[in-house]
Amino acid sequence: MAITIRDVPELQHAADDVRRAGKCIAVVPTMGFLHEGHLSLIRTARQHADIVITTVFVNPTQFGPSEDLERYPRNLERDVLAATAAGTDYVFAPDTKSLYPDGYLTFVTPDRLGSVLEGKSRPGHFRGVATIVAKLFNITKPHKAVFGQKDAQQVVVIRHMIRDLNFDIELIVVPTVREPDGLAMSSRNTYLSREERSQAPVLYQSLKLAEQRMRGNEKTSANIIKEMTALITSSSPGVIDYISIADANTLEELPVCQEHRRHLISLAVRFGKTRLIDNITVTL
Ligand code: PAJ
Repeated sequence: MAITIRDVPELQHAADDVRRAGKCIAVVPTMGFLHEGHLSLIRTARQHADIVITTVFVNPTQFGPSEDLERYPRNLERDVLAATAAGTDYVFAPDTKSLYPDGYLTFVTPDRLGSVLEGKSRPGHFRGVATIVAKLFNITKPHKAVFGQKDAQQVVVIRHMIRDLNFDIELIVVPTVREPDGLAMSSRNTYLSREERSQAPVLYQSLKLAEQRMRGNEKTSANIIKEMTALITSSSPGVIDYISIADANTLEELPVCQEHRRHLISLAVRFGKTRLIDNITVTL
């Protein structure tokens, strides 16, 4: 069974011991309620390191005031079992006070990258993400860090942070794990009603439609986005927050799809109270 540690200095000492023994550490940051997507990250970490640390922490600083912090699903006992089976050696599950004690002041702000796409709809979200991930890097002292492509903008933000703040950490990105009907796995899928769940696969269908059009003759992003919008709104009550076609590295919007570019097609859609995100990348 993985060793569960709740205390910050205790985990830092454990990481020091591992490093002193000349072993390689990989960290998998999560907010828990682990599903196959998370487990795929842990399995990947297992292949790339001697010691895998999975962190489980629902980070309050990345939630907006009207978001789902309170009702975010939690089940640490189950997470420890699942993370262990996938190859985790340590589960770091701190409480909020130990990461953000009274008087906490310091944040990492990803500037421009934090205010587009998800950041536009969720002001402050990536400031919270960058801050907690920087803290988790300093606590777990990893050589490698594993993230999912499911949160494409998060990957771009963390890649920049690693470079800009000189973290000596290799970033490993794992493809999105999907349900058999195409819906990207997410802890938030548990919020969906039966009906919403049956409609949600239209998001991935719309992304595949965009890819098909882009690889065909349609190069104008606005036209592709119009078709995606029509597909989603005609087959579900989903309310579109945004649909974007952007450069996958800079997140700059691309009005016209271009040869040799890596395009990030991403979207956020509300099903009732549940906000779902998904994306694919397409290189022409
Ligand atoms: P969370 O949403 O729990 O996701 C943890 C990691 O699992 C992220 O890297 C995410 O991209 C990845 N992931 C989630 N669903 C996935 C799927 N279907 N396929 C592949 N990977 C998937 O992302 C966060 O937590 C937080 O922002 C965090 C980085 C932990 C900072 O608090």
